[in-house]
Amino acid sequence: MKTLDDLIAEGVAGRTVLVRADLNVPLDAIENGQSRITDDGRIRASVPTLSALRWAGARVVVTAHLGRPKGGPEPRYSLAPVAGRLGELLGTDVVLAAHGDEARAAVGALTDGGVVLLENIRFDPRETSKNEDERAAFARELAGLTGENGAFVSDGFGVVHRKQASVYDVAQDLPAYAGGLVLAEVEVLRRLTETAQRPYAVVLGGSKVSDKLAVIEALLPKVDALLVGGGMCFTFLAAQGYGVGDSLLERDQIDVCRKLLESGKIVLPTDVVVADDFSAEANTRTVAADAIPDGWKGLDIGPESVAAFAEVLGGAATVFWNGPMGVFELAPFAEGTRGVAQAIVDATAKNGAFSVVGGGDSAAAVRALGLPEDGFSHISTGGGASLEYLEGKSLPGIAVLEQ
Ligand code: 3PG
Repeated sequence: MKTLDDLIAEGVAGRTVLVRADLNVPLDAIENGQSRITDDGRIRASVPTLSALRWAGARVVVTAHLGRPKGGPEPRYSLAPVAGRLGELLGTDVVLAAHGDEARAAVGALTDGGVVLLENIRFDPRETSKNEDERAAFARELAGLTGENGAFVSDGFGVVHRKQASVYDVAQDLPAYAGGLVLAEVEVLRRLTETAQRPYAVVLGGSKVSDKLAVIEALLPKVDALLVGGGMCFTFLAAQGYGVGDSLLERDQIDVCRKLLESGKIVLPTDVVVADDFSAEANTRTVAADAIPDGWKGLDIGPESVAAFAEVLGGAATVFWNGPMGVFELAPFAEGTRGVAQAIVDATAKNGAFSVVGGGDSAAAVRALGLPEDGFSHISTGGGASLEYLEGKSLPGIAVLEQ
């Protein structure tokens, strides 16, 4: 796989380089036509590769998506707020250009070290099309923007599990290189799958157990303990025969969860914080996991569970965490996630554990709860991508760079 360093060693001054970044950041609900970025982690993570290219004199064209527009322009998914923040972080103006003539003009006007951000690539339905010819045609248009002697740098780790035009197909049209972020992420995941030190503890949360089954099955043989919290724990509790009140439950997954419990490695919460409503103002109680009252829903793991999870994490040499333990966005249900995250930070500092936060909501939780980002060995920018890697799947955006 050729890398950003190889490209810079070849010389990029004056060349136009197309960079696929993952700038899919959470935005606040739009007010007065304005939206606010609530967590800029992915934009910050994209800066080192973009800066390295700028300093080497490249003309940089960044392509990225935001959300899942339905295949046409939708103002609420515009990358305009991202262009502003990226410009601040890079210390230069970042021109946002719509596809077509506007993009061609903006790229044509670039000078060495300049940056253009193409508007949300998913505004064109060919980006995510299942039709290979449509995608390939779109990829050729993108590649064509770079003119003679162009290059492609794949640095959007969070999207490398998608076989999409700007991730996969374009890498076949231009000399393609792995960016610094993609390389760093893959190195960490390789360490987790190939050379993880034992004891190895995995913490999984989030709402749906069905999203995590494949990774649970792949990880169970490799880990010593798999701690389960978040909405998904209730299907496991139901598999143990407990009533779960109005908590999230995937009935069709109960049998699968029962089978997984036979591994003896899955640790479930023994107490949960329940509420009579899904709101920060709800009445709440902490109850034993086998005593969730009818009509109440579990929205966080309880303090006894946090202590038990912390004990396992305190003895771990390797920790992978994906998914919050509760509805951390609402203050009454944030303590489970905070407590588990803090236990991982402690294991990292005190025992030198290698700790990885697996992107998405858990990475956002670290920042939203004010935990130190440098308290973890690595915070991934890719939720789905890191899970698919750990499942053992081939990631199209990485595989294409290895061809
Ligand atoms: C993510 O947010 O996980 C990535 O940006 C990929 O987004 P997607 O799931 O919409 O493809």
